[in-house]
Amino acid sequence: MLIWQTFVDWAIEFTLEMPQSFSTLEPDLLRPKYHFTARRNWINDPNGLVFFAGEYHLCYQYNPLGNIHRNMSWGHAVSPDLLHWRELEVAIAVEAGVEAFSGGAVVDWHNSSGFGLGDAPPLVAAFTGHHTGQRLQDQRLAFSNDHGRTWTLYSSNPVLDIGESDFRDPKLFWHVATGRWVMLLVLSHGHKIQFYGSSDLKTWEYLSDFGPAGSSAGIWEVPELLELRIEDSGESRWMLKVDIGAGGPCGGSAGQYFIGQFDGTRFTADLSSLEAAPNWIDGGKDFYAAIAWSDAPNGQLVWIGWMNNWQYAAQLPTAPWRGAMTLPRTLSLRRTASGHGLVQRPIQQLETLRTDHQQRSDLRLEGRLALATHSTALEIKLCVALEEAAGFVIELGQHARVGYEAGTHELYVQRDAEDFSADFGGRHSRVVQLEGGILELRIFLDASSVEVFADGGACVITDLLMRAIDPSEFALTSSGGVLRIVQMDVWTIKV
Ligand code: FRU
Repeated sequence: MLIWQTFVDWAIEFTLEMPQSFSTLEPDLLRPKYHFTARRNWINDPNGLVFFAGEYHLCYQYNPLGNIHRNMSWGHAVSPDLLHWRELEVAIAVEAGVEAFSGGAVVDWHNSSGFGLGDAPPLVAAFTGHHTGQRLQDQRLAFSNDHGRTWTLYSSNPVLDIGESDFRDPKLFWHVATGRWVMLLVLSHGHKIQFYGSSDLKTWEYLSDFGPAGSSAGIWEVPELLELRIEDSGESRWMLKVDIGAGGPCGGSAGQYFIGQFDGTRFTADLSSLEAAPNWIDGGKDFYAAIAWSDAPNGQLVWIGWMNNWQYAAQLPTAPWRGAMTLPRTLSLRRTASGHGLVQRPIQQLETLRTDHQQRSDLRLEGRLALATHSTALEIKLCVALEEAAGFVIELGQHARVGYEAGTHELYVQRDAEDFSADFGGRHSRVVQLEGGILELRIFLDASSVEVFADGGACVITDLLMRAIDPSEFALTSSGGVLRIVQMDVWTIKV
């Protein structure tokens, strides 16, 4: 029954929505096990991330009718732990020709909006109204008084309309020092982030602009502003993130950030951050549109991105689903020689999903070592001393590998070309220096994606792998001499 239903779903999607050639007959071999995907249909950016009453809410750009980017609505899922997700009804649907583009959500603790009922605070979401019939984007509110189970559109929408066609992706937060709400959003073609302030989330006053700065190779999208802790210090600094729709370092879309100060009105980037710009968030090709959860427990800052690239998002050979989120990552800053760099770490609770542990330690490798696993949902933790080795490669099947080259200090993910897009294949690398001759990596493989964390989270490479992979082919191979495996742990990740 289940198999039949899956086939029917797939066949319907294939007939109605597949835009181009389609080669994979076993689509669910590509479906990740511990990354979020919608049961069916298209998803893109994470939206409305908020923690309330023991639940993380993950809304996302969603097409309820198929697996192409159309009918943009807010799909919705909830989780107690950011690991186990339950999909709910669509939170915000298309209304009278106005699609619900990206945005954020907050808990309105003191009911400043007046949307609350009784003592419980309402959840308030801000999203972009994308008018399908005219060149206009405006900002709108929706609220919920039942833990996000149903959402009501504010009767006086829009709350912000400046007559622009590409003015979008509002993110809300409470600025403690000035005691007011702040909303930031982008003027996509002007390469500007605009800041607005409000006491009630309904009436917005213009505060300031930031940009153009860094890369303006593509339109600006999905801004985020967070006050991050600087590791090993009692200090913090603000990170302003904005994505570019095209022209990223690996081709296509990508995210960049600036470090600086925010005084409640204006963001001022540090000179060192502007000089180093563009500061790319990810060394891979598939990390986009990340935003963080509001009100996460213990003041934690955790964000999640859409694991994709606009260059080929519409061509990915999966059905009836299309699109996945990255792992949730905690954020902090680290001092560098010239300023501050962003640090991302997979959320710690992922360690509770580890099973089937294999460990090798103190092994001198010259040649090939099979990983001996049966799963394509893995965490590999590797600590190696390069010694005489010129490098090593972790083969993830025949079409993708993670590797390191001692000569150039390059850590990379390489994936073969695929038929569905000329932009997919390639090698995506970052320079990572050895520390005392040692390299430590955490690699998360999940059927059709790989995320590599190095340098304690200062370097991340996120890439899709759109090919069914065979775990019997996984191996670690040294090149040009002996590689000393100080320790290698391999776990199956089970949700
Ligand atoms: C980013 C983006 C946003 C927009 C949404 C539309 O990926 O283009 O700027 O709000 O996706 O789905």
